[in-house]
Amino acid sequence: MEKDRHGNKEVCPMKSLETERLTLKMFTLEDAEELYAYARNPNVGPHAGWSPHKSVHESKEIIKQLFIPVETWAIRLKDQDRVIGSIGLEHDKYRPDANSKELGYSLAEEFWRQGIMTEAAKEVIRFGFEELALEQIGICTGTANIRSQSVIRKCGFKYEGTIRRTYKIYDGTLRDSMVYSLLKEEYEAMKEKEEQ
Ligand SMILES: CC(C)(COP(=O)(O)OP(=O)(O)OC[C@H]1O[C@@H](n2cnc3c(N)ncnc32)[C@H](O)[C@@H]1OP(=O)(O)O)[C@@H](O)C(=O)NCCC(=O)NCCS
Repeated sequence: MEKDRHGNKEVCPMKSLETERLTLKMFTLEDAEELYAYARNPNVGPHAGWSPHKSVHESKEIIKQLFIPVETWAIRLKDQDRVIGSIGLEHDKYRPDANSKELGYSLAEEFWRQGIMTEAAKEVIRFGFEELALEQIGICTGTANIRSQSVIRKCGFKYEGTIRRTYKIYDGTLRDSMVYSLLKEEYEAMKEKEEQ
């Protein structure tokens, strides 16, 4: 397996994860239609900075060019065999020298507000610290993205600050980014507290 410059393995190939309600499996090209079914919705992508998908072909290209290279997970509910979201750990653009990855996610609108992304994110964070031996996990979101800010807080991330006009979104405008991270020691302290 490839190692990164910190000597840690990169995201394990084909590592599936499971939570109480969800299965997380690596995206494949066969998921393109189900990705398109929710990523075409104009209420989903723009919050994360990307344009609504225009065709199944575009969803397939996103899977090929973005999801497969960083091994993004497809989120499925255990009792419904279809893709309802994506979650991944990718290159941390704000912390190039730290042993850190950046968390990113999206969810089909009909499943919002059921705690699904918080459940998925907590498992991916566990995987990042406990199986990839990361020292830090970062995340950033737009100032208007209240839902994502809530998920971020529920996962224990610490707010670091807002970087103004840092991120070019799908329509070419520059977005302010609220930047957060979670250190391994903070994750471990949180886990210890939960177990008490
Ligand atoms: C952000 C997103 C992943 C959240 O997923 P989710 O499964 O609905 O998240 P959860 O249910 O775990 O938590 C949502 C939180 O937002 C809160 N929330 C939802 N709508 C809200 C609103 N209009 N105003 C304020 N808070 C709101 C909920 O109350 C909940 O917090 P709580 O549990 O403290 O009440 C989902 O909305 C999404 O895919 N959005 C579009 C893509 C995106 O923004 N990706 C992230 C880019 S950084």
